[in-house]
Amino acid sequence: MHSRYSYHYLSKIYDATKSTFWKEYRKILKPYIKPQCKVLDLGCGTGLAIEYLNISNQNYLGVDLSTDMLEIAQKKFPTHNFRIDSITNLNLNISFDVVIMAFDTLNHLLSKEDWMKAFKVANIHLSPSSYFIFDVVTPFDHKDVWPNHSDITESESWLYIQRGDYNTKSGIASLKTTIFHKEKEFWSRHDETIQQISFSIDVIKEMLQHVGLHCQVCLDTNTRNDPHVNSNSIVFICQKIS
Ligand SMILES: C[S@@+](CC[C@H](N)C(=O)[O-])C[C@H]1O[C@@H](n2cnc3c(N)ncnc32)[C@H](O)[C@@H]1O
Repeated sequence: MHSRYSYHYLSKIYDATKSTFWKEYRKILKPYIKPQCKVLDLGCGTGLAIEYLNISNQNYLGVDLSTDMLEIAQKKFPTHNFRIDSITNLNLNISFDVVIMAFDTLNHLLSKEDWMKAFKVANIHLSPSSYFIFDVVTPFDHKDVWPNHSDITESESWLYIQRGDYNTKSGIASLKTTIFHKEKEFWSRHDETIQQISFSIDVIKEMLQHVGLHCQVCLDTNTRNDPHVNSNSIVFICQKIS
């Protein structure tokens, strides 16, 4: 099952609203991305990893399902390589030094089966010394933070309103966004919903192990300390089981 996302209009405001995450997140990733490292960016979006980690064109491949996100990425980085594909069934027959799946990308896959598929995809693109690094929004954040979340952000040409929600039955958290966009003197309205799911650290580690991956380091993404019950986001740094 593919996630029911589109990032059609969200792509237009993505960089303006999301880049603060990367200011801190890059500090976690930087030690693993040496200058000559080949990087596979699964769910690359608008290519924020390239700018925050300074990855050169010959060392980078970004993969995403959203043509709108990729269009923006390709415009910003015309000589970098991008590919429209799903992170649940990619097989490039080459390995990379680091595979990343950044900024909640995994949460967008709405079933355990798809998480396992994404882990398998990461695994087949790793060599024994490579790293697979990803972050997830936690079940705590989805259950306790998203239902109370609302946000209004504006610039001269757009205004967006976000409301979070959580369905206790399905475990699916959603972020409903209404975007008002100004072109010339006309405003238009667009609605888009992002859905996410999450699992506990133990379940995620089990899934990783099942596909042949071992989580070496697990950190609270914001504090960069050990995760705790109220962690909002957790980063996993993994290698192949030897
Ligand atoms: C929150 S964005 C993160 C983008 C980017 N990694 C970043 O750090 O800004 C999630 C991205 O995952 C992509 N995505 C979701 N499901 C996907 C799938 N099955 N295959 C490929 N990309 C997917 C979306 O299109 C979107 O660009």
